[in-house]
Amino acid sequence: MGTLDSKIALITGAASGMGRAMALGYAQEGAHVVIADLNLDGANTVVDEIRAAGDSASAKSLNVSSTEESKRVVDEIVAEHGSLDILVNNAGVGLIKPLDEMTPDEWDRIFNVNVKGLMFLTQAACVPMREQNSGKIINMASIAGRRGEALVSAYCASKAAVISITQSVALAMAPYGVNVNAMAPGIVDTPYWKQVDKQFGDLTGKAEGETFKEKSADVPLGRTSVPEDIVPLAVFLAGPGSNYITAQTYNVEGGMVMS
Ligand SMILES: NC(=O)c1ccc[n+]([C@@H]2O[C@H](COP(=O)([O-])OP(=O)(O)OC[C@H]3O[C@@H](n4cnc5c(N)ncnc54)[C@H](O)[C@@H]3O)[C@@H](O)[C@H]2O)c1
Repeated sequence: MGTLDSKIALITGAASGMGRAMALGYAQEGAHVVIADLNLDGANTVVDEIRAAGDSASAKSLNVSSTEESKRVVDEIVAEHGSLDILVNNAGVGLIKPLDEMTPDEWDRIFNVNVKGLMFLTQAACVPMREQNSGKIINMASIAGRRGEALVSAYCASKAAVISITQSVALAMAPYGVNVNAMAPGIVDTPYWKQVDKQFGDLTGKAEGETFKEKSADVPLGRTSVPEDIVPLAVFLAGPGSNYITAQTYNVEGGMVMS
């Protein structure tokens, strides 16, 4: 018996990084995991990994910045499985850009995925969760949402918005027994951070890997994060242990930010 036995979980951006790690973790705990990603081939590869371990998963193509696609995916899941118990809003994109060079289109791209995408997929998922009178919603924030950074304004603002949306949706859904919480990772070794490292390097002239190494020196626990570090909290927030917890954002960052 797993803590998520017979639960239906939708994880966005689960073809890679932390989304993939959470998908493997949820499936191991007994959930059927729907891997939703822009990258359908990558999503299918994760499904194969989960099935090879004897667990249950399926893949869906999803661009979270399309409200229509988000609604379609939720409707399909409910039609296929009868419920949607867990939503992890994990898909996200980053941008390293000096203040003066930021364009409105770049700003919109970050907000369309990290904020609008999260909000309207949540809106769609709340329909079945309200009817079920149960559900768990877990949002991927970041320590970037706790504190601004000169070169990271759009991303930091988008993750601060995720923390705020978590609080508002938690209050809206509390009467229906739906728990809404967020996780704020620090520096996690994923394809996302490789891009961030390159974007910093292009601006500062630092060699590949140097920014990642420098920022790693600030982690009190002495190492940067790997995607698997997020999984125990993600499982806890999706399971019955979190039934009396809502509207919270948890740092998982090796002690970089105190709260
Ligand atoms: N890596 C870090 O250091 C770090 C730290 C804090 C928070 N985060 C956040 O964690 C989440 C996952 O990051 P990761 O590092 O695992 O990234 P990743 O790049 O490894 O994976 C992100 C996944 O999201 C998918 N994706 C991107 N845009 C999408 C869209 N519009 N619709 C659907 N899928 C989309 C990508 O195809 C990819 O599979 C993001 O929200 C990110 O902002 C990352």
